[in-house]
Amino acid sequence: MELPSALEPVKSHIEAKYPLLYLLTWEEARVCGHLMLLTTELKPPRLMYFWSVTEGYSGQAEGQPVAMNDPLAAIDYAIETTESALFVLKDFHPYLRDDHRVIRRLRDAYQALQGTGKTLILLGPILSVPTELEKEITVLDYPLPDFLEANQILVDVVEAEQPGALTQLDARQSEALVRVFLGLTADEIAAVARKVISRRKSFSVNAMEEVIEEKRNILRKSEILEFIINKVRIRQVGGLKNFKRWAKLRANGFTKEAREFGLPVPKGVLITGISGCGKSLVIQALADLWHLPLLRLDMGRVFSGFAGTPEESLRRAILTVEAVAPAVLWIDEIEMGVSVFSDSIQSGSTSRIFASFLTWMQEKKAPVFIAATANDIDRLPPEFIRKGRFDEVFFVDLPKSEERAEIVRIHLEKRGKRASDVSIEGLVKSTEGYTGAEIEQAIITALFEAFGQSREMEINDIYRALGNMVPLSVTMKEQITKQKRWADNRAVRAN
Ligand SMILES: Nc1ncnc2c1ncn2[C@@H]1O[C@H](COP(=O)(O)OP(=O)(O)OP(=O)(O)O)[C@@H](O)[C@H]1O
Ligand SMILES: [Mg+2]
Repeated sequence: MELPSALEPVKSHIEAKYPLLYLLTWEEARVCGHLMLLTTELKPPRLMYFWSVTEGYSGQAEGQPVAMNDPLAAIDYAIETTESALFVLKDFHPYLRDDHRVIRRLRDAYQALQGTGKTLILLGPILSVPTELEKEITVLDYPLPDFLEANQILVDVVEAEQPGALTQLDARQSEALVRVFLGLTADEIAAVARKVISRRKSFSVNAMEEVIEEKRNILRKSEILEFIINKVRIRQVGGLKNFKRWAKLRANGFTKEAREFGLPVPKGVLITGISGCGKSLVIQALADLWHLPLLRLDMGRVFSGFAGTPEESLRRAILTVEAVAPAVLWIDEIEMGVSVFSDSIQSGSTSRIFASFLTWMQEKKAPVFIAATANDIDRLPPEFIRKGRFDEVFFVDLPKSEERAEIVRIHLEKRGKRASDVSIEGLVKSTEGYTGAEIEQAIITALFEAFGQSREMEINDIYRALGNMVPLSVTMKEQITKQKRWADNRAVRAN
C-alpha cells in the first residue's frame, strides 16, 4: 500500500534515527492511524506504543506494559525497552512547560535512543518546546489531507452513505469537487461530505456550492483565514496597466509546462500605494485571472491573540493554505503583523513570529502565491522588501487621466448606466487627484440624488458629488508625497 504523503517526512526522520520527534497536529486519530501503517513499512519493523495521561500505555504489541499515568515512567519505558519501537506520547506539552524532571528525562532519552530503532514521538496540537530541548526535538507540522487522501475519504463516506452518488461526475468535475474539500481536516471532510450527501443524495455539480459554503463556515471559525468567493474580474479594474501585464504573463506560472520551460514558481507580490486606488481589487482580479482559490489572512487577528497564540494560528493558517495549494494567500495590511506590538514588551516575540513567517515564505515548497498589501510603508522592515523575497514590489499611484476614464466607465456600467450617456472627458478633468474609490463614491452619491428625486441621473449630479468631496490627495497631501518618494527607488509602478 502506498503511504499517505503526509507521512513521508515522519518516516524519513525515523529512518534517519532521530530520537525525539514532535508532531504538531489537531488530528490525533488520523495521525495515529497513519503511524500504525509505519510499523510494518519500516525496516526493521517497529512495535507501536501509545501513551496518554488517562490511559497510560496501550498498543498493538504483545505483552503490553502495564498502564502508567506517570510521564516520567512513560519516558523510562522507552529508554529501557530493548525492542525497536515507536513510542507515541499524546498531549505531552503541559509537562514540557513546567516539569523540569520531564525535560531532563527527555534529554536522557535523546542520548539513550540515539542510533537505536526506538523513536519517541510527541503528538499534540500545541507546540511547546523548552529552550533546553530545542536542539534535541525535531518539530514536524503534520499536513492536512492532500488530494489523494481527501479523495479517499470522500469515496469512503459516499460508499457508506449513498453508493454511486459520485458517478454523475466526469473526471474533471470530480477533481474539482475534491479540490473544494482541501484545507479541511479529515474529520471535517467526512462531516461535510456526510452533511451534503444526506441533503442531496448525490454529488451533482450543484453540490459544489454547498461544499464551498460549508468550508467557508469552518474556516471562518478559525477567525484568521477567510476563503473568498471571488467575483472580481480583471476587466473591472481600471488602469494599472503594468500590473495587469505582469499578472497576465504569469497566468500559467503554476503549470507543469512553466516548470519544463525552466521558469521558477511565482512566489509573491507586494502592493503598496495610495488608499482606495485598487490594491485589494487587483489581488482579487489576479486570483480570478489565474483561476486559483483565494484565501485572506487577517494579520491583525493573528497578533491579537483571539485565535490562540500568534505562532499557533499562523502555523495552522499555513497548513490550511498549503493543503489548498496552488492558491493565492492574500495578506492585507501586512505591516500590521510586523509592528503591531512594536512599542510594547511583546515586540520581541512579534519579530520572531514574523521572522519565521518570512522563512516560510522563502522556503515553502507548496505553490502558495503571497499577495500582500501595505499602506504604511514606514512600518515595513527593510528585510521584508529585500530583493528576492517577492517577485515584485508594486506601487499604485493616483489614477492618471486615461485610467480615470476607464474607472468612470466601469462604475457607470456596473450600475447599468452607459458611459456614452455622459461626457467622460469632462469627468476625467474634474476627477484629477481623486482615487478610484472616491470616483466610485461620487457616482453612487449622484445615483442616490437622482433616485431621491425620482429622475434619471445627470452628469451634473456627479460633478456636484465630486465638488462636495475633499479628496484624499488634498487631506493627505504630505503623506502621499512621502509614499511616492519612497516608491521611487523601491517599487515598480503599477499604473
Ligand atoms: N483602478 C480601479 N478600477 C476600478 N475600481 C476601482 C479602482 N480603484 C479603486 N476602485 C474602487 O474602489 C474600491 C476600493 O478599492 P480597493 O479596496 O481596491 O482600494 P485599496 O487600494 O485596497 O485601499 P485601502 O488601502 O484603503 O485598502 C474598489 O472596490 C473599487 O470599487
Ligand atoms: Mg485594501
